[in-house]
Amino acid sequence: MKKIRKAVFPVAGLGSRFLPATKVSPKEMLPIVDKPIIQYAVEEAADAGITDMVFVTGRTKRSIADHFDKAYELENELKTRGKEDMLKIVQDTVPKGVNCIFIRQAEALGLGHAVLCAEPVIGDEPFAVLLADDLIDPNGFGSVVAQMADVYNYNRCSVLGVMDVPREETKQYGIVSTERNEGDTQRCTGIVEKPSPDQAPSTLAVVGRYILTPHIFEHLRTLRPGTHGELQLTDAIASLMRDEAVLAYRFKGTRYDCGNKLGYLKAMVELGVKHAEVGAEFSEWLAQRGH
Ligand code: UTP
Repeated sequence: MKKIRKAVFPVAGLGSRFLPATKVSPKEMLPIVDKPIIQYAVEEAADAGITDMVFVTGRTKRSIADHFDKAYELENELKTRGKEDMLKIVQDTVPKGVNCIFIRQAEALGLGHAVLCAEPVIGDEPFAVLLADDLIDPNGFGSVVAQMADVYNYNRCSVLGVMDVPREETKQYGIVSTERNEGDTQRCTGIVEKPSPDQAPSTLAVVGRYILTPHIFEHLRTLRPGTHGELQLTDAIASLMRDEAVLAYRFKGTRYDCGNKLGYLKAMVELGVKHAEVGAEFSEWLAQRGH
């Protein structure tokens, strides 16, 4: 039985909604309190037992590779100054037993294309895809990828992480239709990218968590450019559904869309009040401001 060992992190997008912050540095390196967004995603995958982290990067993304590399000078400096707690934080950036692999997507031709770029490393195995800017706080449950890996291990087919959204927001998401709309795990009958509220087949939205069988690559390879001339992962999944079962799983957790400013600010506040070091004081300050 093949278990999920590899995760793909497509991080080659432009991040234009965060300009000018993303002019030279990637949006995935924006911090939530003290940790870059991408590190939350890597820790989530590691929590599910995934050992190979495959980053599909583009120009201006070098700092992601640097972040997950060993920082010799910094470590020596911290050691010399006796800052052992800081040293541990730096050394723990990459979870134990994890390999980081970097692939360049030369042109941002779409999320589907980014995933296809990872094929030589993924090979013939099921794998996870995490869009780091969808930050999901599991609120004490196991990480969302771990929840989805359980669903995969039981059913042996692709799994999409979904959540209910207000009907007026369907235009921002891939929306699935399912056989029934009850329970946490359902079989998908279709998926459409960003339908208008009156066209949406349901209000179950795919957010950035996927477990895919390697058959997805056959569908990605034969895909034609869709919305905005990009190769859409959603279109390949729609095609995969015609050949094999794809499940929608309503994950447990709260998702923050850190790809836009409002979602990012919400994540900062919610994770800020839970932060071990500054949470209590921050909550107090918010309360004083009348929140
Ligand atoms: P987004 O739609 O969020 O686009 O991509 P973006 O470019 O990152 O951000 P904006 O819209 O310009 O602000 C969804 C995910 O797919 C990745 C992005 O990095 C993001 O994680 N992606 C998108 C790629 O890796 N390559 C692409 O060609 C397109």
